[in-house]
Amino acid sequence: MSYYVTTPIYYVNAEPHLGHAYTTIAADVLARHMRQRGEDVFFLTGTDEHGEPVAQAAERQGVEPRDLADRNAQRFRDLTTTLDATNDFFIRTSDSQHEAAVQRVLQQVYDNGFVYPGTYEGWYCPRCADFKTDAELVDGNKCPIHLIELEREKEDNYFFKLSAFQDKLEQLYAERPDFVGPQVRYNEALSFIKGGLNDVSLTRARLRWGVTVPWDESQVFYVWFDALLNYYTALTYAREGQDLTGEFWPADVHLIGKDILKFHTVYWPALLMAAGMEVPKRVYVHGYLLMGEHKMSKSLGNVIDPFQVIDLYGVDTLRYYLLREVNFGHDGSVSPEGFEKRYDSELANEYGNLVSRTANMIRRYCGGTVPEAPADDSLASEFANVAERVCEQIDAVDLTGALETIWKHVRRLNQYLQDEQPWKLAKDDSQGERVESILYGVAEGLRVVSVLLHPFMPEKTTAVLEAFGQSSADIAAARFGAVGGGAEVGELQPLFPRIESATAA
Ligand code: ME8
Ligand code: MG
Repeated sequence: MSYYVTTPIYYVNAEPHLGHAYTTIAADVLARHMRQRGEDVFFLTGTDEHGEPVAQAAERQGVEPRDLADRNAQRFRDLTTTLDATNDFFIRTSDSQHEAAVQRVLQQVYDNGFVYPGTYEGWYCPRCADFKTDAELVDGNKCPIHLIELEREKEDNYFFKLSAFQDKLEQLYAERPDFVGPQVRYNEALSFIKGGLNDVSLTRARLRWGVTVPWDESQVFYVWFDALLNYYTALTYAREGQDLTGEFWPADVHLIGKDILKFHTVYWPALLMAAGMEVPKRVYVHGYLLMGEHKMSKSLGNVIDPFQVIDLYGVDTLRYYLLREVNFGHDGSVSPEGFEKRYDSELANEYGNLVSRTANMIRRYCGGTVPEAPADDSLASEFANVAERVCEQIDAVDLTGALETIWKHVRRLNQYLQDEQPWKLAKDDSQGERVESILYGVAEGLRVVSVLLHPFMPEKTTAVLEAFGQSSADIAAARFGAVGGGAEVGELQPLFPRIESATAA
């Protein structure tokens, strides 16, 4: 089976920040997990380079849009590498193949009769690249998101007949209750649709930095239509000489933040219908990372630099923290203090200690080899369904739930050691078999949780699995009892050493 997952493509008007890292990490967890299950995965991320957000930022800096795009696209590419993201391609909307494919698809939409010339009159936020209604403005005529003064615009451009898809979208939502997740976002999207759809500008007359409109070369496409199509165009040229759309289209899940809900849950399926193409299986909308109570954003200046956190603590800890701290699909606050707390209490004290205690006891009491002994039935039965449960949660894009399931089992193993106290039993020669049974059970449980944790913390879990003689992180390996004893326990550096510097950012 194939599995296609995407992140939004990020604007290159500024450098990447933690919010961008968040979505990319989440998508990478999905991609890695699905690969463990043997799916044929395609994971796409990239950069959105056209439109006013980039053109105006370049103008402010006195550089050409292309130069700004080149510089920041490289920073986003570096971020994916630094995050250990296993994306299969990195799309840039300034790629010539993307531009040509956008022209082909939108020409089709035009030929199908869903485009007409008109005059737009109203508000426009160049930072959102979005048209605003009077009702949306705050403080007179400010953008509710960027809090900048907006100007009233009047321009002749081409419109996309969004209104023609009113019924079809309502029908789509009625037939596919999981088209948008979580439920609150489904409701929000549906109520937007039910509020009545107006046609939207498809092109921009004054802007030069964009994809040229093939039927009127004096205009470029409105950046959102160019950008949304990346999910499709990438598959047409990511692999030279191959068209991957047959295998991967439509996407299994587009991961996005809630700031861009309307574009992905309303415009995007309508555009695809207008082009005669299949709509995605699901759009999954996560919440905002907040600092205090404000959305972290470059324009507000309250950002944590992911590169700095990773330098200090390593990438796995950041991946873990973000998905654990903020219930995926909801808003949540992050802070250097919160990060340090989970690092110490969960990563170092719970998982890290479990690993080192288990390895040490196997060295001390079992000659360094995982014993060959039946585990307690009670322990085995508690681990019997953990892999299925995690798979179900990941299928529902409940990343935080999956992590919680895994963590309960980490805690269960610590509790088991606490209850059984093998270090005391080991003093009594007659208890040798009992000690072996306990340590086999714990080693086996640790192996299972490490396989399931692997998509979240690929580096650390690889080190653990290797130290316990396990080379495969396939999902089949997450079955308690799948491996007997006999593995030699190797050397292991402390997984989560104490970090001196108090604040990460
Ligand atoms: O909107 N919390 O790009 P963008 C959580 N180019 N996620 C956050 C976040 C935060 N504080 N800040 C950013 C664009 N994100 C368009 C998208 S897609 C066809 C075009 C993440 O650079 C989140 O995924 O503004 C959000 O949707 C995205 O970055 C916006 O990135
Ligand atoms: Mg934005």
